[in-house]
Amino acid sequence: MDFFLDSTDLEEIKRLNSLGIIDGLTTNPSLIYKAKTPFEKLIRNICSEINGPVSVETVAEKSSQMVEQGIKLSKMAKNIVVKLPMTWEGVKACVELSKINVHTNVTLCFSAAQAILAAKAGATYVSPFIGRLDDANLDGVELIREIKKVYSNFNYDTKILAASIRTKNHVSQSAIAGADVVTIPTKVFDTLVNHNLTDQGLEIFNSDWKKSGQKIL
Ligand code: E4P
Repeated sequence: MDFFLDSTDLEEIKRLNSLGIIDGLTTNPSLIYKAKTPFEKLIRNICSEINGPVSVETVAEKSSQMVEQGIKLSKMAKNIVVKLPMTWEGVKACVELSKINVHTNVTLCFSAAQAILAAKAGATYVSPFIGRLDDANLDGVELIREIKKVYSNFNYDTKILAASIRTKNHVSQSAIAGADVVTIPTKVFDTLVNHNLTDQGLEIFNSDWKKSGQKIL
């Protein structure tokens, strides 16, 4: 499973990328707004920091404009993936961009039917928003399971990118349900390593090592 960061905070991105286990990144217009940095500069900086796909969203109503924006975005850096909304216009734009080998990510997916549309349009990724489904008292992880089943029934090669992650449980449950990628906000990412039994175990190992009087170096 690939780990993407869901962030536009360059300092946080650099901090977590230094771990060496980040495979890509996603942004969205709200995260761009939060960054308060000129758009193109921000995207270029993120794309040179991250050695993997970086999703950047088009903001247009008509498919022709989405395609134009997508082409412009894809010229900003080699690792750009063009994000398109799950609308008929987004589907049309996805078909067009796929034809010219621009990588795409169909976003705001809330049903298996929508995920089928994304696959048929040739999307590289589809982004089911599992946290927002949970917020609406629906089962986000169940949607990942459904999409996985449908995609394997028909050998679709669109990758399932679990998005709108709220907890570390979402990360593991998405993996179990068969997501190819999970995109994780930095705050949630920081919690992945935590377990109280790890802390307790380490404390005992360290204290016993001290008592043993041994040395490694
Ligand atoms: C994914 O690409 C989106 O940027 C993101 O996961 C949305 O998450 P939210 O529901 O927490 O805004």
